Amino acid sequence: EDVTGSKQPLKGKKVVITAGPTQEKIDPVRYFTNHSTGKMGYAVARAAKQAGAAVTLISGPTQLPEPTGVDVVHVTTAEEMFNAVMSVYPNADIVIKSAAVADYRPKETFDQKRKKQPGQWGVEMERTKDILHTLGERKASQILVGFAAESEHVEDYAMQKLEKKNLDLIVANNITTPGAGFKGDTNIVTILSKDGLTKRYDQQSKDEVASRIIDEIVSYTERNTP
Ligand code: CTP
Ligand code: CA
Repeated sequence: EDVTGSKQPLKGKKVVITAGPTQEKIDPVRYFTNHSTGKMGYAVARAAKQAGAAVTLISGPTQLPEPTGVDVVHVTTAEEMFNAVMSVYPNADIVIKSAAVADYRPKETFDQKRKKQPGQWGVEMERTKDILHTLGERKASQILVGFAAESEHVEDYAMQKLEKKNLDLIVANNITTPGAGFKGDTNIVTILSKDGLTKRYDQQSKDEVASRIIDEIVSYTERNTP
């Protein structure tokens, strides 16, 4: 326990958290992004810090204040997030990937503003790297925690992601349900674990959800440590 009497179950652990959207540039005035606000990931960063961890928060563009006592790395694109995460991965004990990484980026970017023209404009898109999938491939002893943003078949799709990306835990949410997903201050999640547990939670504040995620990581680690 620390001076305030709170438990420190992650004391001595290095935790890396990603948060927010990424922005994929087309030209100096335009980009592709998504509705992520970063609130969930920032709440997880605060909760991990509270639990005693040394926290690195790798954040896409958000409007949120930097959590105190947390090492914050600001990135813009999926490629920058990939590089930032990979550079801290070998020393990490736990990685929690709450960022909403763009799956596609414009194949071509323009250094000058593209002027409007008559008729249609088709922007060709290419895939970004799947950061979490790469972490799963390169996993040593790290605990890997993913998120699954779904609009249907939430638990099935989340379980498929857990297996495909070699995760330990996945936090699934239906981003179309009122009270859940990107925008508000609450979320409704199901946490699935590699060792077969499914925990369904009612609507809670993102701070409370963050605490549940930390609790699940701690109990998963206890269950799976010989
Ligand atoms: N993720 C990632 N890198 C990407 C895309 C996703 O690290 N390029 C991570 C997210 O941070 C999240 C998890 O993978 O932790 C699942 O993201 P999600 O968008 O739900 O799933 P995808 O695997 O991208 O599949 P799809 O969007 O088609 O459902
Ligand atoms: Ca995606």
